Amino acid sequence: MVLGNAWAGISIASIQPRAFRDPGVLRLNITDFPPLQAGFGAVRLAFASLGQVSPMPPIIVSRDDTDFFVVSAECTHQSCLIPAFAATKTSTCPCHGSRFGHDGRVIRGPASSPLPRYDLITEVPGVLQIILPEIASYDVTIQRVATPGTNRLAVAFRSMPNVDYEVLSRTSPSSPWQVRSFAISEAGSADRTSIKGIGSEQVVYVDSDGSSGLFAVSAKVRQV
Ligand code: FES
Repeated sequence: MVLGNAWAGISIASIQPRAFRDPGVLRLNITDFPPLQAGFGAVRLAFASLGQVSPMPPIIVSRDDTDFFVVSAECTHQSCLIPAFAATKTSTCPCHGSRFGHDGRVIRGPASSPLPRYDLITEVPGVLQIILPEIASYDVTIQRVATPGTNRLAVAFRSMPNVDYEVLSRTSPSSPWQVRSFAISEAGSADRTSIKGIGSEQVVYVDSDGSSGLFAVSAKVRQV
């Protein structure tokens, strides 16, 4: 699922919680990534800006004529980050010159091990679902705020540090997710659409219209 509008160029994809202890699933809408739409192309994605502590190293998503590949961007020699694959379908580590193919194989040392690869699910047309074992799924709990006269819900979740989050809702399991604005205090204005994770439980507050619906908290990745 892609929620690009409010993120002006950095938004691009989202990760959503699954059942407790399942790996995270990163959903990419291919139409939001021109390099992934035709011929060969690649993008490098991360949960936090470069230089910030991130829950996992960036990944590189690439496609050739028939297949998609997802590999870690962390060089297996001494952990420098490699850039997205060029038109040659290779990427050269800036530290000591190791070169890798877009499927992760080593073309030239000193690295001797391939880049770790991630499993993909492509069952939904136009959407890549990338399985990320490093990103444990997380619980989201929702409770009605007790303050009389309000229809406010408290949405609590365990956040990863330096990762931007947004709140989503939909009216049925088959309807599209919509971004919801929220407050960061029980009595505050619901005028936020993102919040940065702090590495522990966080609570945000969403105004409910009283009808039934489904809520999710979604972590954002950005192209780096
Ligand atoms: S860290 Fe990549 S070649 Fe040394």
